[in-house]
Amino acid sequence: MGRIVNRVSLILLFIVLICAGLTCEKDSTSNGTLGKAIPSKTEKVNSKSMIEEKIKIGFSMDTLLEERWLKDKDLFKKAVENLGAEVEILAANGDDSVQIAQAETLIQNGVDLLVVVPHNAEAMAAIVKKAHSAGIKVMAYDRLVKNADLDLYVSFDNEKVGELQARAITKLVPNGKYVYIGGAETDNNAHLFKKGVFRVLQPLIDKGVITVVYDQWSKDWTPANAFKNMESALKANGNEINAVIAANDATAGGVIQALEAQGLAGEIPVAGQDAELAGVQRIVTGTQVMTVYKPIQALSEKAAELAVEMAKGIPIKTERKINNGKIEVPSVLLSPIAVDKGNLDETIIADGFHSKDDVYESQDK
Ligand code: GAL
Repeated sequence: MGRIVNRVSLILLFIVLICAGLTCEKDSTSNGTLGKAIPSKTEKVNSKSMIEEKIKIGFSMDTLLEERWLKDKDLFKKAVENLGAEVEILAANGDDSVQIAQAETLIQNGVDLLVVVPHNAEAMAAIVKKAHSAGIKVMAYDRLVKNADLDLYVSFDNEKVGELQARAITKLVPNGKYVYIGGAETDNNAHLFKKGVFRVLQPLIDKGVITVVYDQWSKDWTPANAFKNMESALKANGNEINAVIAANDATAGGVIQALEAQGLAGEIPVAGQDAELAGVQRIVTGTQVMTVYKPIQALSEKAAELAVEMAKGIPIKTERKINNGKIEVPSVLLSPIAVDKGNLDETIIADGFHSKDDVYESQDK
């Protein structure tokens, strides 16, 4: 009898164990996520690393018109890929509605972090909101997004850019009539460059040794708009101009074209920015006196490093904060470098930003 009882209880125990196993199986298939809510971005990123999926950065750019942005695009892509992540890049050709639509596409494509070079500092605030509601943080690259809960801003000290330009020009032209050819009014950087320039000029204006006889923004930073501005400045002052500060080399190119038309190229000192090849060649041939070099390699690598860290949910500590009209945005600002004929070799050429042959080719002609 005893052995029968044992056998029956053994069979019963066996049946109970099978039933228990079957119940567990049913749970995992029903909603595929163990009944929990849709994972947040960071959880997704962590699960990505578990299943070897790469972190994806979205890079929404204003334009690729200026030479520097082509460098930013390539160097940022390389830096992100060197960190084992991937990047999707879209450029809006200076059109706000296109840039907003492209940023929405990047959000829908499931990027883990959005990096933005805004065409219009105010208009792109809408994208920060959209990204946040999808659990995606936003970094502003080179240009600030205004009046938004931006997560991080990485750029150069743009007021310092203006100061370097004005210091170089006032050393060459300590008194006389000045023209300021500004950048695009929609670009917060244009306002910072101008602020830096006038921080240096104002005391000289107050002393009456310098007069700014013309001061205009150049829509969309185009050389054509800068040309028109400079033409009006020359006309309004009977060509009696002693110095010009242009917000970047593209606009300086437009200015020098207008001076050329009046036979004044090389006579009136012109300052620029960006160390574009054409700008640097003009410094060699003497129609432009200086530019401000901003090492794009350093900017793109710093931005990529912080973008990937932020995408992983790693908190970012910064020394500086910049007020964007809504919040104090954690910011990293790199130093710009003033460049003229005297230090071209040890700055731009030494860094490989341009080759010696390209820079001096114009000299051999
Ligand atoms: C600014 C940028 C400059 C200049 C300009 C035109 O925001 O800082 O380097 O190139 O845009 O695109």
